[in-house]
Amino acid sequence: MKRNFFFVFSILMIGFPAVASADVDAQMQVCNDCHGTNGVSQSSDVPTIAGLAEFVHVDALYIYQDEARPCAESDYRQGDTSRAATSMCAVAADLSEDDIDALAAAYAELPYVKATQDFDAALAAAGQALHDQHCDRCHSDAGTNPEDEAGMLGGQQMGYLRNMFGQYADGSREQPGKMQEKVELLTADDVEALVNYYGSIQ
Ligand code: HEC
Ligand code: HEC
Repeated sequence: MKRNFFFVFSILMIGFPAVASADVDAQMQVCNDCHGTNGVSQSSDVPTIAGLAEFVHVDALYIYQDEARPCAESDYRQGDTSRAATSMCAVAADLSEDDIDALAAAYAELPYVKATQDFDAALAAAGQALHDQHCDRCHSDAGTNPEDEAGMLGGQQMGYLRNMFGQYADGSREQPGKMQEKVELLTADDVEALVNYYGSIQ
């Protein structure tokens, strides 16, 4: 009896890590059906999550679990697109703390690929000036440095960025206090200039 028990126990012990990583792969497949293959988005309203700083990613998923950030219904973009639309709040609700840690770690390892998108060069130049003056301190390298732990801006999908400025402006997404001071100064034209600047980073 005793022997059997230890046999089963040791199988479980060996089995666990393998099961956990298979789970992460399966979960990432679902994420990627919206966020794009390897977490690189092909949809303007969906952010690329490959290369996102682990801390920012974990934080975002907990915020979605708390429904403290808007989470619009979204269709699946690839794979089985007949699945019912869902939202980031619903997606995050199904994740355990271990899932969140594992997903954030796995995406942080994947290369960040800047989106190829159309932008207005004159607006981008105006946006760069604004960025250098107000944003570069926390979003260095055009907002592409994961070590800033501040989300990825340069090369991010422009539709998503536009939506985030909208959420910051109407207060539905919380932002760091020091950032709010800067963002509150922006006019609608400034926001559009910044979005084009980040879109111009390719
Ligand atoms: C049905 C489509 C869909 C699925 C499935 C999905 N996402 Fe999302 N995700 C979105 C959309 C759309 C947004 C942008 C939300 C917004 O505009 O407010 C988003 C936003 C995010 C963000 C915020 C990024 C940032 O920089 O703040 C993270 C992180 C994220 N998703 C991670 C995941 C992970 C991890 C999974 C899988 C467990 C996943 N998503 C599954 C559609 C999806
Ligand atoms: C004091 C530091 C600081 C300053 C200054 C700052 N930011 Fe941020 N920013 C952050 C941090 C930290 C985050 C991540 C917030 C979070 O995860 O909720 C962030 C997130 C963002 C996001 C969301 C990214 C995403 O993935 O969803 C956008 C867009 C953004 N900042 C734009 C700007 C712009 C434009 C400026 C200048 C006008 C600016 N920020 C100035 C610290 C700053």
